[in-house]
Amino acid sequence: MRSHSFALFFERRFSKSALMALVFAPLLLSCGSTSSVEVAPNPVSNPPATTPSLLDAYPPLPAGPAPGASPEARAIASKIGRGINFGNMLEAPNEGDWGLRVEDRFIDLVGPGKFSSSVRLPVRWSNHATPDANATIDAQFFARVDSVVDRLLARGVIVVLNMHHYRQLDGDNPDDKERAVPAEVVDVRLLAMWKQIAERYANRSPNLLFEIYNEPHGRLEPKWNDMASRAVRLIRKSNPTRVLIVGPTFYNSATKLSELVVPPDPHLLLTVHNYDPFDFTHQGAEWVVPVKPTGVTCCSDSQKQAIVRNLDLAVSAAKQLNYPVFVGEFGAYSKAPDASRAAYLRFIRDSMEARALPWFYWELASGFGIFDLATNQFRSQLFDELYGR
Ligand code: GLC
Repeated sequence: MRSHSFALFFERRFSKSALMALVFAPLLLSCGSTSSVEVAPNPVSNPPATTPSLLDAYPPLPAGPAPGASPEARAIASKIGRGINFGNMLEAPNEGDWGLRVEDRFIDLVGPGKFSSSVRLPVRWSNHATPDANATIDAQFFARVDSVVDRLLARGVIVVLNMHHYRQLDGDNPDDKERAVPAEVVDVRLLAMWKQIAERYANRSPNLLFEIYNEPHGRLEPKWNDMASRAVRLIRKSNPTRVLIVGPTFYNSATKLSELVVPPDPHLLLTVHNYDPFDFTHQGAEWVVPVKPTGVTCCSDSQKQAIVRNLDLAVSAAKQLNYPVFVGEFGAYSKAPDASRAAYLRFIRDSMEARALPWFYWELASGFGIFDLATNQFRSQLFDELYGR
């Protein structure tokens, strides 16, 4: 079962908070400009903080303008195309807890010449790492991830390996079967885990990309720019040129790209998620509280506008920031009416492709899935709307 607190945040992302952000953004901006009246720092009354922090071991990059994406990062972005999330597998509290494991038959589906040669692989590292500042990743779990990553890479797949569902980092309650960690080590563990992951995969193909954290939200929002900068600096020690991925706060909402401070590094891509219209895409989803009524159709003009608004925001922000952006998640849950689900998939896919946005559908074979485990076949209509002509 998924966490309800996650669901509450998830829900708020598209309703109350979105509204608040729109209402208060101009106000906050104007506050920002008033308070930017120069005030000389007073080192006597404002001594620099000297309390040693566990994060000191992982300093951020020196502040500076992000240089824009390198040709290598742009080349990878242009190879992503139509991707697929291997969701509900390795990011369940334990693989199998959500009814799915990474199976050979899934790996056999992907690769050049197949329906997709780009896989986003969500992984819940935190639940397989010691609950201390070192966050030592369990050897067996690491070996399991190695085997999936290496089989995908061997097939020529672009693999986005991420860190997914570290609930306490966002201030959410741990899921069932998820072990809590002491408050003082929550942040540093993100970096300690990335140190191990980055070192472990340092010699893998450049087709392996690291996405620093899925859908930062809640508690993490005010710290996110700083944490992302620390993570990039740390990963660069072992992976000087690997393409890394950062996304905005508020569950990777395009509306928050304007607040993302892109770490000053050229080998980066940006990512956003798009589940609008949420009442449609998440109707009947058991992990959204309260559960949304079913029977919602798609796509009216206003629903279409909601979808493309986020895509347009992503495109314009990415252009301004001078980094490519891709849509790392979008999708409609199985409880949506079939015809509308198909119409939604066709519309959002065409809209993304009209904007040259690479994408990863959420997800392969679970509740949003395009692959039917029982028949061992793709669900043909959904599949065609996404990956067909
Ligand atoms: C979220 C999460 C994913 C979740 C999905 C559907 O954005 O990243 O773990 O299952 O969207 O709600």
